[in-house]
Amino acid sequence: MSDALGSHPVPSPAPSSLVEVGRTQTCGDLRQEHTGREVVLMGWVANRRDHGGAIFVDLRDRYGTTQLVFRADAGAEAHALAGELRSEFCIAIRGRVADRGDNANPKLPTGSVEVSVATLEILSRAQTPPFSLDDDNDTRESLRLRYRYLDLRRPALQRNFALRAAVTNATRQQLTAEGFLELETPVLIKHTPGGARNFLVPSRLNPQQFYALAESPQLFKQLLMVAGFDRYFQIVRCFRDEDLRGDRQPEFTQIDVELSFAHEELIYGLVERLMARLFTEALGVTLPLPFPRMTYHEAMARYGCDKPDLRYGLPLTDLSEVCAGSGFRVFDGALEAGGIVKALRLPGRAAELSRKDLDALPELVRPVGAKGVAYARMQPGEGTLTWQAPFAKALRPETMRAIEARVGAEAGDVLLFLADQPGIANNALALLRAHMAQRFGLIDARAWAPLWVTDFPLLERSEAGEWVACHHPFTAPRPEDLPKLGTPEQGAARARAYDLVLNGVEVAGGSIRIHQPEVQERLFAAIGLSPEQAEAKFAFLLEAFRFGPPPHGGIAIGLDRLVMLMCGATSLRDVIAFPKTQKGTCLLTSAPGPAEAAQLRELHIRLAE
Ligand code: AMO
Ligand code: AMP
Repeated sequence: MSDALGSHPVPSPAPSSLVEVGRTQTCGDLRQEHTGREVVLMGWVANRRDHGGAIFVDLRDRYGTTQLVFRADAGAEAHALAGELRSEFCIAIRGRVADRGDNANPKLPTGSVEVSVATLEILSRAQTPPFSLDDDNDTRESLRLRYRYLDLRRPALQRNFALRAAVTNATRQQLTAEGFLELETPVLIKHTPGGARNFLVPSRLNPQQFYALAESPQLFKQLLMVAGFDRYFQIVRCFRDEDLRGDRQPEFTQIDVELSFAHEELIYGLVERLMARLFTEALGVTLPLPFPRMTYHEAMARYGCDKPDLRYGLPLTDLSEVCAGSGFRVFDGALEAGGIVKALRLPGRAAELSRKDLDALPELVRPVGAKGVAYARMQPGEGTLTWQAPFAKALRPETMRAIEARVGAEAGDVLLFLADQPGIANNALALLRAHMAQRFGLIDARAWAPLWVTDFPLLERSEAGEWVACHHPFTAPRPEDLPKLGTPEQGAARARAYDLVLNGVEVAGGSIRIHQPEVQERLFAAIGLSPEQAEAKFAFLLEAFRFGPPPHGGIAIGLDRLVMLMCGATSLRDVIAFPKTQKGTCLLTSAPGPAEAAQLRELHIRLAE
């Protein structure tokens, strides 16, 4: 680091401020071999301990912490001034590196030395910070976000942002080396329907007209393919007016990629090489290539969700077939209503899960709409297993034996059952699976489980019951499923769409696009758009596609989510310098805020009461 700072000998006669002399090292640089050297350091006072004759200060910058010692014999003026130092003062010092000998602090990389200070310059003073900047503090997050610039001084957050910068830097290098051009696309765009809800921006120059903030560069990157830029990438901010959660921010960053003459293998290979490089360079971790793959169908069947965490097992088993006419009204009722019965087997956990634990499970799955969780403990019996379950008496013995065989039950197991519509049952079981993995410590925090999920459905029904594209309406269908479009079976048509999942988090998503007008028309028809309506909504894209579009496809990696996982963080707020709260507010600047009457007039906007 010292080279990067332009290390040079301290000149004399001394300039008026140490700032003009410049740092000779950072607070993370000094080691035993520097003993005896004169150095200039700058940083913040992490803490101060006054032992009368000697005052100790930990000086912190983004590279580390170095112990300073002020003694009257090394610098009388500095020693006197050091009495004024308080936490988070910004200071510069000149002093001599000394060996700490037996007093070394093995926890600090610089811990074998300290700097005996000859000159102290207080560059600026600090009010008492509203919270301690120790990494292990448990200050309310709202307070930390209000004083985010102080929060960001914490070493843990500084490390996260250094890692984030390493990731973006390596991304640029890797994609550039693979022939990709970094191109920019507009943020203020025309609103196109579908996909996430857009933020709207009123146009002053065009009264009563609005821009949308781009939710992604999707249509523009496709236009760049028509334009002949066959390999595009951009590290780009996207805006979505969604309900927020720990892994969703209203503005977030994608590593956005599009390729001409693309097919799935080309994109998988490209992303795998990129991910491998990011992990080696930023974390020193080797990801085995190629990444495993699983179809959407298999993911839903085995794990109840399309982004399974494969750091642990606990697969699900569908029991709909063997539970028909089971005798238990919860199962039979669900099946008669077109639902499913599915189970999660917890091998050998009967002794660890109390009745109270098990009775608390319905509460856990209520948020996804599940009405209950049936459970059974498998006890050794004579010849067969004995079911310890509230509903054991209701179940026909043949059904019990069939369930045991299907799930591979053994004495000591707990079985959890969900009987409901497939969506609810799967969501609930996915929650239970994750909950149990956590509870039984099955998740190796150092493990990395990347997974391609492929063959997503092309279409789904919206809440209003209308057919909509699952990904977006330019996603190509699998050619063999094309005949399904426009028939009652179109829900079974598969898309050439893929997601990259890492440790149970969707970190990337993309697809091969439609570039043939006939296919595009069929897709629009399948989602109920007439040619006129399609033209009205996507005229510019459809027009461009009349001028020799290349076959193309791409993907976007959620940079924030990826970096969050790489940092071991659980919230995007730990990897976004100035994030928003769940309610979309910025506690530091108080955005969003009211507009002044004059601004609104200029924009031709009148507010409703
Ligand atoms: P998609 O909508 O799947 O695809 O987004 C790609 C990736 O971006 C991340 N992501 C988010 N991260 C944080 N906060 C959010 N609100 C948020 N929303 C999405 C996810 C996701 O996998 N244009 C297509 C890509 C393509 O087809 O090429 C798109 O935007 O990690
Ligand atoms: P009940 O008689 O409704 O209290 O239900 C009997 C048992 O079945 C309880 O343990 C419920 O939690 C459970 N249960 C209720 N609904 C479901 C469901 N849809 N799927 C699985 N178990 C359920």
